[in-house]
Amino acid sequence: MDVSRLLIVSNRVAIPDRTGAVAAGGLAVALGEAFRMYEGVWFGWSGKVAAEPASRPQVINKGQVQYALMDLTTSDRREYYNGFANRALWPTMHYRVGLSDFSRTDYDGYRRVNHNFATALAPLSRPDDLVWVHDYHLIPLAEELRALGLVNAIGYFHHIPWPAPEVLATLPGTTELLRSIACYDLVGLQTQRDAENLRRCLITELGAVSDGSDALEVAGLKTRIHCFPIGINSNQIEQLAARANSSRVVRQMSADLNSRRLIIGVDRLDYSKGIPERMGAYERFLQDNPDQRGRVTYLQIAPTSRSEVPEYAAVSRAVNEALGRINGSLGEPGWVPIHYVTSTYPRSVLAGLYRLASVGLVTPMRDGMNLVAKEYVAAQDPANPGVLILSKFAGAAQQLRAALIVNPNDKVEVAEAIRNALHMTQKERVCRWSDMMQSLREHDVSWWAGAFLKALKRGSPSALKSAHVVPVSARS
Ligand code: F6P
Repeated sequence: MDVSRLLIVSNRVAIPDRTGAVAAGGLAVALGEAFRMYEGVWFGWSGKVAAEPASRPQVINKGQVQYALMDLTTSDRREYYNGFANRALWPTMHYRVGLSDFSRTDYDGYRRVNHNFATALAPLSRPDDLVWVHDYHLIPLAEELRALGLVNAIGYFHHIPWPAPEVLATLPGTTELLRSIACYDLVGLQTQRDAENLRRCLITELGAVSDGSDALEVAGLKTRIHCFPIGINSNQIEQLAARANSSRVVRQMSADLNSRRLIIGVDRLDYSKGIPERMGAYERFLQDNPDQRGRVTYLQIAPTSRSEVPEYAAVSRAVNEALGRINGSLGEPGWVPIHYVTSTYPRSVLAGLYRLASVGLVTPMRDGMNLVAKEYVAAQDPANPGVLILSKFAGAAQQLRAALIVNPNDKVEVAEAIRNALHMTQKERVCRWSDMMQSLREHDVSWWAGAFLKALKRGSPSALKSAHVVPVSARS
């Protein structure tokens, strides 16, 4: 595509290590893929906290990408990251209104960091750069950039669910965020439902009107809203899984299993992932199917996440409580029903563990997409694949319709799905797997990045953009 540069902005920035490998994690891998097509700048938080606010980013050059990293202050981290982004927006967008904790101080900190990021980013931009902003931490960024005079095409991709208007409206500050979102030329969401929810929010809260094409008009601004389900690099996962026996962890796990069947779950330790609920469903499966005791092992990998936020400490306690109860009451000498680890593993090891597993248990209470579901499928042996059990509330369920789709709130349904998965014929497993693989190959991560950027490039930036916007941080 005829683009001089790509300017990506996200809260986390994944710098390749000495071997050129990027960190595990959906966003890092996906954005790494975008940079295989373009040269450019990746701007975001350094992950560090400094005593003084940074006015200029630290710049690191690696290959055709320039990484521009901003430190946050202690109050930035508390108010912007732990506060408004992860204690207010995250639970609300995952439909957990009861967990959402709004504070005006946090909201002001969120707007302040967006303002500071825009101020530091603007001098790095060139007039024909495509600007692509990611994730709920940075919704106000385009508004701030427009106020600084940027007329570039600016797109935003929302990696998490977008809730129904009635849910979003419970959170103070979201009307302003909707005004901010209208400053993007293109907004990408994971599913049609998310895209429809955002359209309804703009119409009901701001009186946006359709222009007759795919755009909505709000206060003189035009924004296009589309669904671009994020994909994986399925070829790479297939290759990693096929040669995973070189990993010590995978070989050890395979030996320890002996002839037991493996059920696997891999998630950040987050209440949206439904880990205690999943353990409860597995407990129910063992109670209802006593012949399976000692014949299956459930491995749950759950790296600790956002541990300064109280709700994350609470989910960690709930997981440990379920784990102790189940292993204590159902375990036997020589057999532990659930293996639980909080370490982070490289993608090559995860791919090998996925391939060993007869069942991939992916049952979030709500999830934007869930790339573990996709990677589990891509890692399977085509001749003898495992079975994916997938929550109907994960965005991936819109594409992976040949999975066993379950409601994660119903532990009897999930327990029955585990039994059905373990008993499924090879013929049915191959048939379901082929169906899912076709969708993963057609809509892989290169398709995702290419489709979004092509659509962003097609809609030329409107001259109105710089004229009408007064960012919230500059309003009295
Ligand atoms: O799923 C949303 C998301 O922000 C991802 O983009 C990111 O990789 C993940 O959550 C991790 O969150 P955090 O950066 O807070 O550890």
